[in-house]
Amino acid sequence: MIKVAPSVLSGDYAKLGESVALAEKWGGDYLHFDVMDGVFVPNITVGMPSLAAVRSYCSLPFDVHLMIINPEKYVERFVKAGADIITFHPEACADVKGTLLKIKELGKKCGLVVNPDKDLSLVMPYVDLLDMVVFMGVFPGFGGQKFIPEVLDKIREFSKIVREGGYNIELELDGGVNEDNAQTIKDAGIEVLVAGSAVYNSKNPIETIKNLKR
Ligand code: DX5
Ligand code: ZN
Repeated sequence: MIKVAPSVLSGDYAKLGESVALAEKWGGDYLHFDVMDGVFVPNITVGMPSLAAVRSYCSLPFDVHLMIINPEKYVERFVKAGADIITFHPEACADVKGTLLKIKELGKKCGLVVNPDKDLSLVMPYVDLLDMVVFMGVFPGFGGQKFIPEVLDKIREFSKIVREGGYNIELELDGGVNEDNAQTIKDAGIEVLVAGSAVYNSKNPIETIKNLKR
C-alpha cells in the first residue's frame, strides 16, 4: 500500500496549524515538514518552535526533512518538538552514524536523503541503521519544481538492494510528484510519495491523494 505525505511547504504559512490539519483530513499518511536553513539550501522555512506549535493540529506521524547543515545539533530538539521521523542529508552532517543512533535512541525513526546528483555510496554504510531513505526528485529548496526522471535508476537499484538484503527501510520520493508520474515512481520501488504542490494546489486534494495512491 502506497503512502502519501503531503508537504506543508505548499500550504498556507499564515495558518500553519490549519494547513497541517488539512493533510490528515484529506487522507494523507504522514505530514511532511520541510526545514531549510538558507545555507544547505537557498531558502529558509521554519524550525522547532513552529513544529511544536502545530503538532497538536494533526495526528499523522510528522516526517521532518532537515535541509540544514549540522543536523546533529538539532535532532534532539526536533524530537522534543514532535517529530516522528527525521531525515537529513549525510553530506551536511559531521557525524552521520552518531546522529542516526541518537534519533533511534530517542525512540524515533531515522533516515537519509539522497540528492539528485548524489549516489548510493552516501547511504550504503548505514543500511543497517536506516528506517527510511528519501530520494529527491528535484534539487531541494523549493516546491513546485519539475521531476528529474534520471533519479529512477538509482531508486530501482536501491530497491533491489533492500529487497535482496531483507532490510526494513521505507523508500520515499520527495519533489516533483504529480498524478501523471506517480505510477512510474511507484514502479521503481517507492512506497511513500511526498506531494506538496500537487496536493495543496489541487482543486480536489482528497481525489488527488486517492489518485496518487492507486
Ligand atoms: C523541496 C522539499 C519538498 C517540497 C516538494 O525542497 O523538500 O518536500 O515540498 O514540493 P513538490 O511536491 O511541489 O515538488
Ligand atoms: Zn522535503
